Amino acid sequence: MAKMATGRRDDLDAQARRILHANDRGGYTVPNPHVYPFQWNWDSAFVALGWQEIDSHRAWRELQTLFAAQWEDGFLPHIVFWQQDPGYFPGPDVWRVKRAPATSGITQPPVAASVVRWMWERQGSAADMVVADLYPRLLAWHRWFRRARDPEGFGLPLIIHPWESGRDNSVEWDAPGEAVDTSAIEPYERRDITKLEHGMRPTKRDYDRYLALLQFGRDKGWDQRVIAAEGPFRVIDFGLAAIFLRAERDLAVIAERLGRTEEAAETRSSVARAETAMQRLWQEDPGAFCSLDLRTGAPVRVITNASFLAFYAGIGNARQRGRLIAHLEDIAAHCRFVVPSLDPRHEAFDPLRYWRGPVWAVVNFLIARGLEETGYGRWAERIRLDTASLIRKTGFFEAFSPIDGAASGGADFSWTAAIWLAWAGRTPEHRQDAARASRQADGA
Ligand code: DGY
Repeated sequence: MAKMATGRRDDLDAQARRILHANDRGGYTVPNPHVYPFQWNWDSAFVALGWQEIDSHRAWRELQTLFAAQWEDGFLPHIVFWQQDPGYFPGPDVWRVKRAPATSGITQPPVAASVVRWMWERQGSAADMVVADLYPRLLAWHRWFRRARDPEGFGLPLIIHPWESGRDNSVEWDAPGEAVDTSAIEPYERRDITKLEHGMRPTKRDYDRYLALLQFGRDKGWDQRVIAAEGPFRVIDFGLAAIFLRAERDLAVIAERLGRTEEAAETRSSVARAETAMQRLWQEDPGAFCSLDLRTGAPVRVITNASFLAFYAGIGNARQRGRLIAHLEDIAAHCRFVVPSLDPRHEAFDPLRYWRGPVWAVVNFLIARGLEETGYGRWAERIRLDTASLIRKTGFFEAFSPIDGAASGGADFSWTAAIWLAWAGRTPEHRQDAARASRQADGA
């Protein structure tokens, strides 16, 4: 059991800093040493925001280390296996990506460009060089999404594996996952359920599908175009799409500030295409932007925490936003802590099972940011306060029950600690003060 994270903000700040230091492997931070002993893609982007509160050089290094594992075609893997660790399944011997460093063969939500923009805005000209160095790598990754993950010109990238959504066992993948043939999967042994309670993790049915999809990609030699065109799981994940659209906008801003005018225009056209495509994801029933199974054309009509990333993506007309806020109100009336990863009224809701109920601090951060930017400041603050209460009451866990705040998943979790330092543990005034102090230090 982790230490209880009770007490004043300063104590929690110190605990959060200790967690990042303890999980630091020199240039990258493991999400949790027992359950996830490697570098994860979107974890590192969030973790960089936490490091920024401690040491800005270390924050940039987190991203530089991640991008050091980028493939020549721009693909950025979801896991980088910088060292061996038999405690995780599936490890590099299962992925069989023939590269050094060894990586997985799938990607994850592209939060990095947004994080780079925020860190640059916070640090000012002191960060010009590192941004100029990271920018071409970010652009290459985004171009890869546009090219390799949009074979039919939908305007938004598709995912080829539930793990790419970052919300591994969301109920959204249940129906599309039915098309995955699991009859030829190799025997395997999970490690996650030797460390965490089975009831907090995906089921065997989910894992069988994860493995079948991994084997499919491996059999295709991780040829991303073939997998995206022929794979058994081809889904527009609204969550990843929202993060992508937002990151495209942020990338365009970075390009403009760096004077890369043509590339900025190229990225702006992708933004325009993505905005148009987003409207195709809107479903009057249930009144939300929904993921879409591209194989069948069937929308996945379900309200998850990803639904509220619409604000973060800056999409939706007044009526659509009104309907989303109404969902948020209904959800808040059915649980103590928002935002659960599945509407508590859904039959599959399970308060402790990974992405089928628990609250995740990082998603709350993105949702709140979007709400604040679109004029729903009171909701944004409610979400921040709930996130802070969960951490204060329970500790820096991977996720939390929205019903009673109980812990779900691993303890001493890097991204929860990072989000505490960067957002949940900071009042809006405190964040403004920190930004001002950092600009003054920069001489701006
Ligand atoms: C896991 O192993 O549970 C990870 O979420 C996959 O990325």
